[in-house]
Amino acid sequence: MSYPHYRDVLDLHQGRATSDGDGVRLTRLIGGPGLERFDPFLMLDAFDSVDARDYLGGFPAHPHRGFETVTLMLEGRMRHEDHLGNRGLLVPGGVQWMTAAGGIVHSEMPEQEQGRLFGFQLWLNLPAADKLGPASYRDFAPEEIPQLTSARGVGVRVIAGRFREGEQEQAGAVQRPHTEPQLYQLDFPAGACLMPELPRGHNVLLHVFAGELTVRGQRDRSIQAGQLARLTDGDSLHLTSANGARALLIAGKPLGEPIVQYGPFVMNSREQIEQALADYRSGRFG
Ligand code: FE2
Repeated sequence: MSYPHYRDVLDLHQGRATSDGDGVRLTRLIGGPGLERFDPFLMLDAFDSVDARDYLGGFPAHPHRGFETVTLMLEGRMRHEDHLGNRGLLVPGGVQWMTAAGGIVHSEMPEQEQGRLFGFQLWLNLPAADKLGPASYRDFAPEEIPQLTSARGVGVRVIAGRFREGEQEQAGAVQRPHTEPQLYQLDFPAGACLMPELPRGHNVLLHVFAGELTVRGQRDRSIQAGQLARLTDGDSLHLTSANGARALLIAGKPLGEPIVQYGPFVMNSREQIEQALADYRSGRFG
């Protein structure tokens, strides 16, 4: 009989205000100074504004190669179009899972001229062997994301992977090999508690976007709205919220491979980046 080893908060990050696309203002929680990446996660952006000038420009046609993008919309609407002919409308609660792999050219444009636009985009790395594989795109309507209420009252949307707590188990909308991402959207009522099982060895991130959560480890640490916590490794995770919270829990198996990034191209070597630029310029993405 060994004691469970609880995951603790390793460190906390506030993110950095920046802009991307055609002047979309956002908070970069991962990707850049402060927290360059957390294997297998390359970037995490939060966009949230009620001022249309902050988002109207959107993200006109641009390429990606070598990884996957996951977009979660919480408020507002965004239209996706890509060179493969996919079109999709992301609505509140909807999720887009795009495997750029060998190359995709797409646009992501707000489908509104006023009101709040609020959501997240996560970049998930692909292993070397899949970086030049076929591109694919899926979008999920809000009702296609499995959801449940945990034994102690937490609302859980299982976007990717598999949620397990005690006897309760639920497969998510997306399963991916290699990095085995687990992605949950959590809604804690006041006084609720959650002890999800997460594979040992996975890197785990917790982003609180409303309220306050406590990670109960060797030493309790509170995470405030807007903060991103990296967690230590362990067998168990114990989360509580005294006054309620909304959060994203993101876990993935590290790839441990070299990374060379040039903007929207993430490969393993400089030569592969040069090849990506040459392929894009000569129209071989699509
Ligand atoms: Fe994109």
